[in-house]
Amino acid sequence: MADQKDKVVLAYSGGLDTSCCIKWLQVEKDLDVIAVVGDVGQEHEGLEKIKQKALKSGALECIVVDMRQTFVQEYLSKALAANAMYENKYPLVSALSRPLISKHLVDAAHAFDAKYIAHGCTGKGNDQVRFEASITMLDPDLEILSPVREWDLKTRPEEMEWAQQHGIEVPTTKKSPYSVDDNLWGRAIECGVLEDPWAEPPADIYAMTADPAEAPDEPQYVEIEFMRGLPYMLDGNQKSFLGIIYALNEIAGKHGYGRIDMIENRLVGVKSRECYEVPGALSLIQAHKALEDLVLEREVLHFKLGMEQAWAKCVYNGQWFSPLKEAIDAFLLNTQRCLCGTVRLKFYKGSCTVVGRRSSYSLYDYALATYDADDVFDHEAAKGFIQLNTLSAKTWASNRRKEGAPAELFDAEKQEGPLTKGKYEHATSIWKQVVAAEAELA
Ligand code: ARG
Repeated sequence: MADQKDKVVLAYSGGLDTSCCIKWLQVEKDLDVIAVVGDVGQEHEGLEKIKQKALKSGALECIVVDMRQTFVQEYLSKALAANAMYENKYPLVSALSRPLISKHLVDAAHAFDAKYIAHGCTGKGNDQVRFEASITMLDPDLEILSPVREWDLKTRPEEMEWAQQHGIEVPTTKKSPYSVDDNLWGRAIECGVLEDPWAEPPADIYAMTADPAEAPDEPQYVEIEFMRGLPYMLDGNQKSFLGIIYALNEIAGKHGYGRIDMIENRLVGVKSRECYEVPGALSLIQAHKALEDLVLEREVLHFKLGMEQAWAKCVYNGQWFSPLKEAIDAFLLNTQRCLCGTVRLKFYKGSCTVVGRRSSYSLYDYALATYDADDVFDHEAAKGFIQLNTLSAKTWASNRRKEGAPAELFDAEKQEGPLTKGKYEHATSIWKQVVAAEAELA
């Protein structure tokens, strides 16, 4: 059929942006649009409704995929093994879902023989990078289109007007001033007043967590049992990992635990103020770490900390399908073999504390650790241990003294002299002048 149009597979959410994308791809690029909607556990208005919206906006076809099981089994399980937190704070909520959605986009492109894949990300965020990097790594022959980056609908009203002209349903309720992305692992909130890093996040940004001040007055204890690094029992009841995530989001959220307010370094070079709600994810990571503390041999544990950071950075930067991430996964998986045991958490007014841990693989040895009479630790051996452990540095120190080099030469604080009252006052007066000048400018 000579006049058959080329096809594009679009990552569709049901929002105004991606609805406009459907029409734009038809009108501007002359393509048939296949919309793909992924359920990764986000809040949504109903998948059937979203599908109808896609078709009404002009999609030739709309496929709805429940990705939750795969998300848990192939993505969140690895994130948990990595105790994954970008910049030691952010458990990668959005960064984890993008490669999974990308995988489905690529599969759909193959099934429908589409030449293109499109997403509705802006040109300023990490998500565009994650989609495009993932798609390229899965099939370098697919071409990627990014309508929002390309079109010139600069403002929301412009976009709404364009939508109206093209017969796209425009939301009647006032749009939330925030940009939100959520899934099983949590919720990311940005924009609006949050763009001022000094402004305290308003109460209305939160949806999963209670205000800690209004959380129950009674603490709640929860026992999580792990097998090979994955949770499988909650308070003695066997549950799927998915079920445990839902339950912990509920429990931790009720106690006001899991809020994050941070300045984050985006891959595209921008610092941004981000708020997150990650009650279940943070509780699980905390419990998982506590079990590792008990079970992993010291050198493995220390080495793993570096691997965890590398893993989180890799995934944050859109490198889910990269060989580096795959290699680190192999290491992580190996560390989880004996990670069986139970951790006891206590939730109370915005906090989650590990209050107990036990495992049949525990390396905690009471006889070695105790200061009581049962002690079997060889105190005599400590002397020789310290001598040899310090030998190298001791050799260095004697050498320095023999050369007559004053110790101060190797001590920055001494070179500059001690901090005197005069110096301190000088420094603070300069600082006060800076603050005053800034206030004048403002
Ligand atoms: N800053 C986070 C990240 O890059 C969250 C992004 C959320 N996306 C969104 N469209 N609101 O992973």
